[in-house]
Amino acid sequence: MAGFIDESILDDILGRIDIVEVISAYIPLKRAGRNFKACCPFHKEKTASFMVSSEKQIYHCFGCGAGGNAFNFLMQYERMEFREAVEHLARRAGIILPERHRLDRQSNGTVTQIHKINEAAAAFYQSSLRSVRAKSAHKYLENRGITPHTAKTFKLGYAPDEWDGLVRHLTGNSFDLGLAQKAGLVIAGTDRGFYDRFRNRIVFPITDVRSAVIGFGARVLDKSLPKYINSPETPVYVKGNHLYGLDLAKEAIRQEDRAVVVEGYLDCIIPYQAGMRNIVASLGTALTPQQVRLLKRFTHNVCLVYDGDTAGQAASIRSLEIFIDEGVNLTVAVLPAGFDPDSFTASRGIDAFRELIAGAATIFDYKLKFLIGKTGRIATESKAAIVSDMLSTIARFKNAVLRSEYVKKLSETLDVDESALLTELSKAKAGIRTDEVAAPGGIRTTAVHPTEKLLIKLMLEESSLIDQIRDRLDPDDFQDSRTSRIVRLMLEMTASGKPIAPGAILNHVGSDETMRLVCESTFLPDVPEAQKRVIVEDCIARLKNARQASRRLRLQSEIRKAQDKGDHELLNKLFTEFHSLIKKG
Ligand code: CTP
Ligand code: MN
Repeated sequence: MAGFIDESILDDILGRIDIVEVISAYIPLKRAGRNFKACCPFHKEKTASFMVSSEKQIYHCFGCGAGGNAFNFLMQYERMEFREAVEHLARRAGIILPERHRLDRQSNGTVTQIHKINEAAAAFYQSSLRSVRAKSAHKYLENRGITPHTAKTFKLGYAPDEWDGLVRHLTGNSFDLGLAQKAGLVIAGTDRGFYDRFRNRIVFPITDVRSAVIGFGARVLDKSLPKYINSPETPVYVKGNHLYGLDLAKEAIRQEDRAVVVEGYLDCIIPYQAGMRNIVASLGTALTPQQVRLLKRFTHNVCLVYDGDTAGQAASIRSLEIFIDEGVNLTVAVLPAGFDPDSFTASRGIDAFRELIAGAATIFDYKLKFLIGKTGRIATESKAAIVSDMLSTIARFKNAVLRSEYVKKLSETLDVDESALLTELSKAKAGIRTDEVAAPGGIRTTAVHPTEKLLIKLMLEESSLIDQIRDRLDPDDFQDSRTSRIVRLMLEMTASGKPIAPGAILNHVGSDETMRLVCESTFLPDVPEAQKRVIVEDCIARLKNARQASRRLRLQSEIRKAQDKGDHELLNKLFTEFHSLIKKG
């Protein structure tokens, strides 16, 4: 699991945060004895089987098997990558992580190579923007109101008016042009050699959430066409998987708990420069489910801003339903005709833009208004069509309170009987597949002998019990390889004098199955204090007996085989072993 970072730092981070606080930022936890519980956020359920232990810093769901420590929770819930979860909690714990390492392990893989060449290209375009020969580019940025500081923040650059400016630069720095082609930076000519893809354009590097340059957009300086040329898809740049500006905006999005999504590069840059920091651009038209999920890591509140002239197309309205499916609260702001966020902010100011966003319509209102049309008068014949279209949207909401609110509002707006709408709604709901989220791996409980599980639980709770076990049992006395792995870890950890931190053990277990076993054991029913030692003795005896028994069985079958073969020498050896085993047992 770890690998790229010193494991002691991981333990350190976990030691300084409280998993109960981390999780309760996302779901309400109720106290239940020594633990906390809630309805599991990872599968649908009516009774709470999601448990969080503050003492052990572990969560576990008995319904779907999800579980882990605080890192695992963020990875599962926020869909963070491990590295991000570590960074996130380190910040919370006030721990400064050592020197950043790249996420991908093989540092010579294509992905890393493309990142490197993209960085080199971005640096080349940036330095070329600083050159005196880029006067026209300077003028262009100035006319669009972009300050040098903003240009630097967004790593804006200029692709010189040459066929091989970048080609020569990359060759001079011993980059392979075949790689540059894979990165979409250069194009193979018909006769020989490569030439630059971007020429005489303002360059907008596209970065991922970790600020790595993954692609480029490039705009002409005049009215010629095409206005923008973008990187083709590459192993690191998949259209619809990223959001422009997210690395710069993510903290503000988290803090303000809202993201503003616009369409174009400048639509993002200009409001950002004016002080709106929670803004990103989709760079296309309709948002993809991947982009919605990416936003969901930082907020569940999104405002989409449409240009006055592109708003309200039926296709784009349908695409908004992704947000409902993902459980994201969406509002839609529509700019006056002829404006986009860039020109609106430039001419009316950022406060006017903020107001527009604050007054944005819910997806329900937005769609209903669109269906009713500009006149606001509804012909009786079109009522049924509007109703069924609206109900198909309402049915997608997972929240029953919201659904009933919307039905009420629809009945008032259209003057249709509410109970008729409710009947229709249940029909519409039947047509929608409700994703019963499958448990990861589909396993409910780990099939490990109850004695072994109970011992794990007790050892996790009290280091003194580990000492009781240390001299009596060998990790191999445990029948299950997962149990013996955990026991070995605990023995190692306590041998160096460290107290047992169950949450931190998970950083070391190495497999999901083993992790699940630790989580499950953690939440087994409590054993009365006075009986713990006796129970441990009993467990030890059982395990010893079990191991004896299985050895005896194995020996007996070997003896039978040796008898069949008539191998007297082997038989003698096996008999001696068998007798000493019985004597010991
Ligand atoms: N776009 C593109 N290719 C084009 C046109 C547009 O990739 N030929 C993308 C760009 O990401 C652009 C966004 O769609 O930023 C919105 O397009 P548009 O509204 O036409 O451009 P603006 O962003 O308003 O650009 P500008 O203000 O510079 O004219
Ligand atoms: Mn524009």
